[in-house]
Amino acid sequence: MEFQKQEVSVLKKLRAELQERYQNYQAENLKLDMSRGKPCPEQLDLSAGLLTCLTEDDYRARDGIDCRNYGGVEGIPEARELLAPILDVDPQEVIVSGNSSLALMYDLIARALLIGLPSSSMPWGKMPRVKILFPCPGYDRHFAICNQLGIEMIPLELGAAGPDMDEVERLAAGDESIKGIWCVPKYSNPTGITYSDEVVERLAKMKTKAPDFIIIWDNAYAVHHLTDQPVRLKNILAACKEAGNPDRVFLFGSTSKISFAGAGLAMIAGSENNIKWLKKQIIIQTIGPDKLNQLRHVRFFKNFAGIEAHMKKQMAIIKPRFDQVLETLESELGGKGIAEWSKPKGGYFISLNTLEGCAKKVVKMAAEAGVILTQAGATYPYGNDPRDRNIRIAPTFPSPAELKKAMEIVAVCVQLASIEKILSGK
Ligand SMILES: Cc1ncc(COP(=O)(O)O)c(C=O)c1O
Repeated sequence: MEFQKQEVSVLKKLRAELQERYQNYQAENLKLDMSRGKPCPEQLDLSAGLLTCLTEDDYRARDGIDCRNYGGVEGIPEARELLAPILDVDPQEVIVSGNSSLALMYDLIARALLIGLPSSSMPWGKMPRVKILFPCPGYDRHFAICNQLGIEMIPLELGAAGPDMDEVERLAAGDESIKGIWCVPKYSNPTGITYSDEVVERLAKMKTKAPDFIIIWDNAYAVHHLTDQPVRLKNILAACKEAGNPDRVFLFGSTSKISFAGAGLAMIAGSENNIKWLKKQIIIQTIGPDKLNQLRHVRFFKNFAGIEAHMKKQMAIIKPRFDQVLETLESELGGKGIAEWSKPKGGYFISLNTLEGCAKKVVKMAAEAGVILTQAGATYPYGNDPRDRNIRIAPTFPSPAELKKAMEIVAVCVQLASIEKILSGK
């Protein structure tokens, strides 16, 4: 039954029933945290072998390097070989580093501001204004980096095939202070969409007023499929090379949601030129990464096929959780005309859109009934969702039973907030 088409009296009766359900949930004193996309303990257990796969005398990389010692800023060769296929690049085009790709992104932006990129005529920080384009909804920690470092963020609508490229091209071609676009191109956080070939090609080819414009390609969910038919993403580095802009893109990824979120491997990839430049920069910051962890990952996964097989096991654990959320949303909210949600083929999130002006209220009400969601607005720069409707749901950490309860509560809150909105307009 569509809520908008109901008589006031019907809606009021429904509201009373929902309020009773809500109060019953409140009386249960629940504590369910769905705010962050963290792997659940069963997912982490899959990689338990990482803790035992090195022995006392197994500490040398293939080329004889003693992984216990300093050095090897670009990562050991076999770790570069293991991880390069995740980003669809050659091993020499990737640097395997510490445990966090976010830290690598932060460092890239900090370097651009302080030192400048190879293609910069001056450090970004010397310009009066620096702006970055953000297809939205997007990832709150990307926004947090720009916020902290004083970069202006320009939100752009993210559609089913990526950002509106007419708008991206118009903005990038017309404003020298626009220095980049920050993308989660595959199974995006939070909507789960993957950029189309056309979008990738246009990003690689487009004219930019800033000569040092970069694409920050955060491919965090490259191998995180939720179906047996992985979605394919066009190779952006190859597209940039073909378009004559090989240095435009920096690619990022990590094993945070493959092995251990707190003790995985992160990587940055790019053109030969960019890798050469990055190595020179990184050696100032560190005498070398944790190569034992790199060796451990190589011993444990062996090769890319090992990673793919491992991701199937990950899928077997998290798919039922996604299904639980989707089933509960459908049974509680389906056909009511008050919410829409994504049905992702991969990644870590489900994106829920309420009626305009309801998301903040829903998140607050859910919290008051013990369900902690990501803050409303978090998926937009400055915490400002102009339509106040997007809510990010992270299904991986709670158990399926907890998810069912949590989503029932969220659905009751969505219905109550929607009825309030509809009644106020009748
Ligand atoms: C899009 C995206 N990028 C990066 C990260 C964090 O990556 P890392 O653990 O490698 O720092 C996350 C974690 O949720 C994410 O969703």
